[in-house]
Amino acid sequence: QATVPEQPFVSNPLDAKIEKKVSIVGCGQVGLATAYSILNKEICDNISLVDMNGSRLEGEVKDLQSATAFTKKCVVEGSTTYDVTEGSDLVIVTAGAKQKVGESRLDLLEKNTFMMRDVLGKILEYSPETPICIVSNPCDIMSAIANKIASDLPCGRIFGSGTVLDSGRFRQLIASSLNLDVRSVSGFIIGEHGDSSVPVWSTVFCGGVKLINGDAPGDVENAIHEEVVHAAGDVIARKGYTNWAVGNACAEIADVVLNDLRLIMPVSTCVRGYAGVEEDVFLSVPCVVGATGVKRVIDLDMTSEEIMKFRKSADTVWKAQSGVWN
Ligand code: 2OP
Repeated sequence: QATVPEQPFVSNPLDAKIEKKVSIVGCGQVGLATAYSILNKEICDNISLVDMNGSRLEGEVKDLQSATAFTKKCVVEGSTTYDVTEGSDLVIVTAGAKQKVGESRLDLLEKNTFMMRDVLGKILEYSPETPICIVSNPCDIMSAIANKIASDLPCGRIFGSGTVLDSGRFRQLIASSLNLDVRSVSGFIIGEHGDSSVPVWSTVFCGGVKLINGDAPGDVENAIHEEVVHAAGDVIARKGYTNWAVGNACAEIADVVLNDLRLIMPVSTCVRGYAGVEEDVFLSVPCVVGATGVKRVIDLDMTSEEIMKFRKSADTVWKAQSGVWN
Protein backbone atom coordinates (compact mmCIF):
# COMPACT_ATOMS: atom_id res chain seq x y z
CA GLN A 1 0.00 0.00 0.00
CA ALA A 2 1.63 3.21 -1.10
CA THR A 3 2.33 5.51 1.80
CA VAL A 4 3.03 9.18 1.57
CA PRO A 5 6.72 9.61 2.42
CA GLU A 6 7.27 11.51 5.66
CA GLN A 7 7.52 15.16 4.69
CA PRO A 8 10.33 17.08 6.40
CA PHE A 9 8.75 19.81 8.54
CA VAL A 10 9.51 23.21 7.04
CA SER A 11 7.97 26.42 8.23
CA ASN A 12 6.43 28.11 5.25
CA PRO A 13 5.72 31.83 5.18
CA LEU A 14 2.45 30.92 3.48
CA ASP A 15 1.55 29.19 6.74
CA ALA A 16 1.42 32.66 8.29
CA LYS A 17 -1.99 33.65 9.61
CA ILE A 18 -4.17 33.68 6.53
CA GLU A 19 -7.39 32.95 8.34
CA LYS A 20 -9.64 35.98 8.49
CA LYS A 21 -11.75 36.46 11.58
CA VAL A 22 -14.68 38.76 12.19
CA SER A 23 -16.18 39.22 15.64
CA ILE A 24 -19.66 40.61 16.16
CA VAL A 25 -20.52 42.01 19.58
CA GLY A 26 -24.26 42.05 20.15
CA CYS A 27 -26.40 39.32 18.63
CA GLY A 28 -29.78 40.88 18.32
CA GLN A 29 -31.50 41.12 14.96
CA VAL A 30 -28.83 43.41 13.47
CA GLY A 31 -25.88 41.36 14.72
CA LEU A 32 -27.39 38.11 13.49
CA ALA A 33 -28.30 39.53 10.07
CA THR A 34 -24.72 40.81 9.82
CA ALA A 35 -23.30 37.40 10.75
CA TYR A 36 -25.58 35.62 8.28
CA SER A 37 -24.72 38.04 5.47
CA ILE A 38 -20.97 37.77 6.14
CA LEU A 39 -21.22 33.97 6.23
CA ASN A 40 -22.97 33.89 2.87
CA LYS A 41 -20.49 36.29 1.29
CA GLU A 42 -17.82 33.69 2.13
CA ILE A 43 -15.24 36.35 3.03
CA CYS A 44 -13.82 34.97 6.27
CA ASP A 45 -12.73 31.78 8.03
CA ASN A 46 -14.12 32.52 11.46
CA ILE A 47 -17.16 34.40 12.74
CA SER A 48 -17.19 34.86 16.51
CA LEU A 49 -20.27 36.15 18.30
CA VAL A 50 -20.58 37.74 21.73
CA ASP A 51 -23.85 38.32 23.51
CA MET A 52 -25.02 38.49 27.11
CA ASN A 53 -27.85 36.00 26.51
CA GLY A 54 -25.89 32.74 26.54
CA SER A 55 -28.69 30.27 25.91
CA ARG A 56 -30.13 32.12 22.91
CA LEU A 57 -26.60 32.71 21.59
CA GLU A 58 -25.88 28.98 21.79
CA GLY A 59 -28.92 28.30 19.63
CA GLU A 60 -27.95 30.94 17.07
CA VAL A 61 -24.37 29.61 16.89
CA LYS A 62 -25.59 26.05 16.38
CA ASP A 63 -27.96 27.19 13.64
CA LEU A 64 -25.24 29.19 11.88
CA GLN A 65 -22.83 26.26 12.20
CA SER A 66 -25.40 24.13 10.38
CA ALA A 67 -25.67 26.85 7.73
CA THR A 68 -21.95 26.39 6.98
CA ALA A 69 -22.88 23.06 5.38
CA PHE A 70 -23.89 25.22 2.42
CA THR A 71 -21.05 27.75 2.39
CA LYS A 72 -17.28 27.87 2.18
CA LYS A 73 -15.66 26.46 5.33
CA CYS A 74 -16.15 28.92 8.19
CA VAL A 75 -15.86 28.34 11.92
CA VAL A 76 -18.73 29.93 13.86
CA GLU A 77 -18.18 30.41 17.61
CA GLY A 78 -20.00 32.23 20.36
CA SER A 79 -19.53 33.20 23.98
CA THR A 80 -20.79 35.55 26.65
CA THR A 81 -17.12 36.44 27.27
CA TYR A 82 -14.79 38.41 24.98
CA ASP A 83 -11.93 35.91 24.82
CA VAL A 84 -13.73 34.41 21.81
CA THR A 85 -12.95 37.64 19.90
CA GLU A 86 -9.18 37.32 20.33
CA GLY A 87 -7.16 38.05 17.19
CA SER A 88 -10.02 39.48 15.12
CA ASP A 89 -9.31 41.20 11.80
CA LEU A 90 -12.46 43.27 12.29
CA VAL A 91 -14.84 43.74 15.19
CA ILE A 92 -18.39 44.92 14.48
CA VAL A 93 -20.36 46.35 17.41
CA THR A 94 -24.14 46.09 17.12
CA ALA A 95 -24.86 45.78 20.87
CA GLY A 96 -27.30 48.02 22.71
CA ALA A 97 -30.92 49.09 22.69
CA LYS A 98 -32.69 49.46 19.37
CA GLN A 99 -35.21 52.09 18.29
CA LYS A 100 -38.81 51.46 19.31
CA VAL A 101 -41.74 52.64 17.20
CA GLY A 102 -41.67 56.44 17.10
CA GLU A 103 -38.17 56.68 18.68
CA SER A 104 -35.30 58.44 16.89
CA ARG A 105 -31.80 57.00 16.94
CA LEU A 106 -30.69 59.91 19.17
CA ASP A 107 -33.23 58.74 21.80
CA LEU A 108 -30.95 55.72 22.42
CA LEU A 109 -28.00 57.90 23.44
CA GLU A 110 -28.00 57.54 27.24
CA LYS A 111 -28.43 53.79 27.49
CA ASN A 112 -26.11 52.95 24.59
CA THR A 113 -23.36 55.28 25.80
CA PHE A 114 -23.23 53.26 29.02
CA MET A 115 -23.07 50.03 26.96
CA MET A 116 -20.29 51.36 24.69
CA ARG A 117 -18.09 52.30 27.64
CA ASP A 118 -18.46 48.76 28.97
CA VAL A 119 -18.02 46.88 25.67
CA LEU A 120 -15.12 48.72 24.11
CA GLY A 121 -12.58 48.01 26.85
CA LYS A 122 -13.35 44.30 26.66
CA ILE A 123 -12.90 44.28 22.87
CA LEU A 124 -9.56 46.10 23.07
CA GLU A 125 -8.30 43.64 25.70
CA TYR A 126 -8.35 40.85 23.09
CA SER A 127 -7.96 42.79 19.82
CA PRO A 128 -5.95 45.90 20.72
CA GLU A 129 -5.01 46.91 17.16
CA THR A 130 -8.07 45.70 15.26
CA PRO A 131 -10.32 48.02 13.23
CA ILE A 132 -13.69 48.40 14.96
CA CYS A 133 -16.88 49.24 13.08
CA ILE A 134 -19.60 50.75 15.29
CA VAL A 135 -23.18 50.08 14.20
CA SER A 136 -25.02 50.66 17.51
CA ASN A 137 -27.17 53.77 17.37
CA PRO A 138 -26.86 56.67 17.48
CA CYS A 139 -24.06 55.38 15.32
CA ASP A 140 -22.09 58.62 14.86
CA ILE A 141 -22.00 59.48 18.56
CA MET A 142 -21.30 55.88 19.58
CA SER A 143 -18.35 55.95 17.13
CA ALA A 144 -17.06 59.22 18.59
CA ILE A 145 -17.31 57.83 22.13
CA ALA A 146 -15.57 54.60 21.12
CA ASN A 147 -12.84 56.60 19.42
CA LYS A 148 -12.38 58.77 22.52
CA ILE A 149 -12.07 55.67 24.75
CA ALA A 150 -9.55 54.11 22.37
CA SER A 151 -7.74 57.42 21.85
CA ASP A 152 -4.33 55.73 21.58
CA LEU A 153 -5.42 53.88 18.44
CA PRO A 154 -4.41 55.47 15.12
CA CYS A 155 -7.02 57.79 13.58
CA GLY A 156 -9.45 55.85 11.38
CA ARG A 157 -9.10 52.54 13.24
CA ILE A 158 -12.50 53.12 14.80
CA PHE A 159 -15.27 54.16 12.46
CA GLY A 160 -19.04 53.88 12.14
CA SER A 161 -21.17 52.12 9.54
CA GLY A 162 -22.75 55.55 9.18
CA THR A 163 -24.54 56.35 5.93
CA VAL A 164 -23.31 53.31 4.01
CA LEU A 165 -26.86 52.06 4.61
CA ASP A 166 -28.55 55.38 3.83
CA SER A 167 -26.52 55.70 0.61
CA GLY A 168 -27.57 52.16 -0.35
CA ARG A 169 -31.22 53.01 0.23
CA PHE A 170 -30.69 56.28 -1.70
CA ARG A 171 -29.14 54.55 -4.72
CA GLN A 172 -31.76 51.82 -4.69
CA LEU A 173 -34.64 54.33 -4.68
CA ILE A 174 -33.05 56.37 -7.50
CA ALA A 175 -32.44 53.20 -9.53
CA SER A 176 -36.01 52.05 -8.95
CA SER A 177 -37.42 55.45 -10.03
CA LEU A 178 -35.39 55.20 -13.26
CA ASN A 179 -35.97 51.47 -13.79
CA LEU A 180 -32.20 50.87 -13.63
CA ASP A 181 -30.02 48.29 -11.88
CA VAL A 182 -28.77 49.83 -8.62
CA ARG A 183 -25.20 49.09 -9.71
CA SER A 184 -25.61 51.72 -12.41
CA VAL A 185 -26.29 54.44 -9.82
CA SER A 186 -23.49 55.98 -7.74
CA GLY A 187 -23.86 58.69 -5.16
CA PHE A 188 -23.53 59.53 -1.48
CA ILE A 189 -25.64 60.52 1.44
CA ILE A 190 -23.32 62.06 4.08
CA GLY A 191 -23.65 63.53 7.56
CA GLU A 192 -25.65 61.93 10.38
CA HIS A 193 -26.93 58.40 10.05
CA GLY A 194 -30.28 59.80 10.96
CA ASP A 195 -32.78 62.58 10.41
CA SER A 196 -30.21 65.27 9.46
CA SER A 197 -28.45 63.25 6.75
CA VAL A 198 -27.41 65.13 3.59
CA PRO A 199 -28.02 63.89 0.01
CA VAL A 200 -25.09 65.06 -2.12
CA TRP A 201 -26.91 65.20 -5.45
CA SER A 202 -23.78 66.51 -7.16
CA THR A 203 -22.25 63.03 -6.59
CA VAL A 204 -25.16 61.12 -8.17
CA PHE A 205 -24.29 59.60 -11.54
CA CYS A 206 -26.27 57.06 -13.57
CA GLY A 207 -24.05 55.19 -15.98
CA GLY A 208 -21.56 58.03 -15.92
CA VAL A 209 -24.20 60.71 -16.55
CA LYS A 210 -24.76 63.29 -13.80
CA LEU A 211 -28.37 63.02 -12.59
CA ILE A 212 -28.80 66.70 -11.74
CA ASN A 213 -26.79 69.23 -13.70
CA GLY A 214 -26.19 72.23 -11.48
CA ASP A 215 -29.90 72.71 -10.64
CA ALA A 216 -31.19 72.37 -7.12
CA PRO A 217 -32.92 69.03 -6.41
CA GLY A 218 -36.60 69.08 -7.32
CA ASP A 219 -39.68 67.60 -5.63
CA VAL A 220 -38.92 64.07 -6.91
CA GLU A 221 -35.37 64.17 -5.55
CA ASN A 222 -36.45 65.68 -2.24
CA ALA A 223 -39.11 62.96 -1.89
CA ILE A 224 -36.45 60.29 -2.43
CA HIS A 225 -34.28 61.71 0.36
CA GLU A 226 -37.31 61.97 2.65
CA GLU A 227 -38.02 58.28 1.98
CA VAL A 228 -34.43 57.43 2.96
CA VAL A 229 -34.70 59.44 6.19
CA HIS A 230 -37.92 57.65 7.14
CA ALA A 231 -36.94 54.20 5.82
CA ALA A 232 -35.93 52.72 9.19
CA GLY A 233 -38.95 54.21 10.98
CA ASP A 234 -41.31 52.88 8.33
CA VAL A 235 -39.90 49.36 8.65
CA ILE A 236 -39.77 49.47 12.47
CA ALA A 237 -43.44 50.55 12.56
CA ARG A 238 -44.32 47.40 10.60
CA LYS A 239 -41.97 44.68 11.88
CA GLY A 240 -40.45 46.18 15.03
CA TYR A 241 -36.83 46.44 13.85
CA THR A 242 -34.61 46.66 10.76
CA ASN A 243 -31.95 44.04 10.12
CA TRP A 244 -31.54 42.77 6.55
CA ALA A 245 -30.40 46.03 4.91
CA VAL A 246 -28.07 47.02 7.75
CA GLY A 247 -26.77 43.43 7.85
CA ASN A 248 -25.84 43.60 4.17
CA ALA A 249 -24.29 47.05 4.62
CA CYS A 250 -22.10 45.70 7.42
CA ALA A 251 -21.13 42.65 5.36
CA GLU A 252 -20.06 44.98 2.54
CA ILE A 253 -17.89 46.90 5.02
CA ALA A 254 -16.46 43.62 6.33
CA ASP A 255 -15.54 42.53 2.79
CA VAL A 256 -13.74 45.84 2.17
CA VAL A 257 -11.77 45.65 5.44
CA LEU A 258 -10.91 41.94 5.32
CA ASN A 259 -9.71 42.17 1.71
CA ASP A 260 -8.14 45.61 2.03
CA LEU A 261 -10.17 46.73 -0.97
CA ARG A 262 -9.61 50.48 -0.46
CA LEU A 263 -13.16 51.16 -1.58
CA ILE A 264 -14.53 54.69 -1.13
CA MET A 265 -17.49 54.36 1.25
CA PRO A 266 -19.47 56.91 3.30
CA VAL A 267 -18.49 55.64 6.77
CA SER A 268 -18.61 57.70 9.95
CA THR A 269 -15.27 59.25 10.92
CA CYS A 270 -13.96 62.33 12.71
CA VAL A 271 -14.94 65.33 10.57
CA ARG A 272 -13.48 68.16 12.62
CA GLY A 273 -12.09 70.51 9.97
CA TYR A 274 -14.18 69.03 7.13
CA ALA A 275 -16.27 71.66 5.25
CA GLY A 276 -15.68 74.07 8.12
CA VAL A 277 -16.94 71.77 10.92
CA GLU A 278 -15.30 72.87 14.19
CA GLU A 279 -16.77 70.35 16.63
CA ASP A 280 -15.26 67.02 17.64
CA VAL A 281 -17.92 64.95 15.89
CA PHE A 282 -18.13 61.82 13.78
CA LEU A 283 -20.21 62.03 10.61
CA SER A 284 -20.20 60.10 7.35
CA VAL A 285 -18.14 61.40 4.47
CA PRO A 286 -16.59 59.44 1.59
CA CYS A 287 -13.55 57.56 2.94
CA VAL A 288 -11.04 55.14 1.49
CA VAL A 289 -11.66 52.01 3.60
CA GLY A 290 -9.24 49.08 3.89
CA ALA A 291 -7.60 46.63 6.28
CA THR A 292 -6.86 49.23 8.97
CA GLY A 293 -10.23 50.98 8.73
CA VAL A 294 -10.43 54.52 7.33
CA LYS A 295 -7.25 55.24 5.39
CA ARG A 296 -8.16 58.59 3.86
CA VAL A 297 -11.02 61.06 3.80
CA ILE A 298 -12.18 62.37 0.42
CA ASP A 299 -12.89 66.11 0.15
CA LEU A 300 -16.20 66.42 -1.70
CA ASP A 301 -16.81 69.42 -3.96
CA MET A 302 -20.21 70.31 -2.47
CA THR A 303 -22.64 73.10 -3.29
CA SER A 304 -23.04 75.88 -0.71
CA GLU A 305 -26.42 74.41 0.26
CA GLU A 306 -24.90 70.94 0.75
CA ILE A 307 -22.17 72.47 2.94
CA MET A 308 -24.78 74.34 4.97
CA LYS A 309 -26.78 71.12 5.51
CA PHE A 310 -23.60 69.21 6.45
CA ARG A 311 -22.69 71.81 9.08
CA LYS A 312 -26.28 71.68 10.36
CA SER A 313 -25.95 67.91 10.68
CA ALA A 314 -22.71 68.41 12.64
CA ASP A 315 -24.49 70.88 14.96
CA THR A 316 -27.36 68.43 15.51
CA VAL A 317 -25.00 65.60 16.43
CA TRP A 318 -22.74 67.83 18.56
CA LYS A 319 -25.70 69.18 20.56
CA ALA A 320 -26.87 65.63 21.31
CA GLN A 321 -23.31 64.40 21.98
CA SER A 322 -22.31 67.18 24.37
CA GLY A 323 -24.60 65.67 27.02
CA VAL A 324 -22.36 62.57 27.22
CA TRP A 325 -19.03 64.07 26.10
CA ASN A 326 -17.47 64.31 29.54
C1 2OP B 1 -31.35 51.51 10.10
O1 2OP B 1 -31.24 52.60 9.54
C2 2OP B 1 -31.77 50.99 12.46
O2 2OP B 1 -30.04 52.53 11.93
C3 2OP B 1 -30.74 51.34 11.48
O3 2OP B 1 -31.94 50.53 9.61
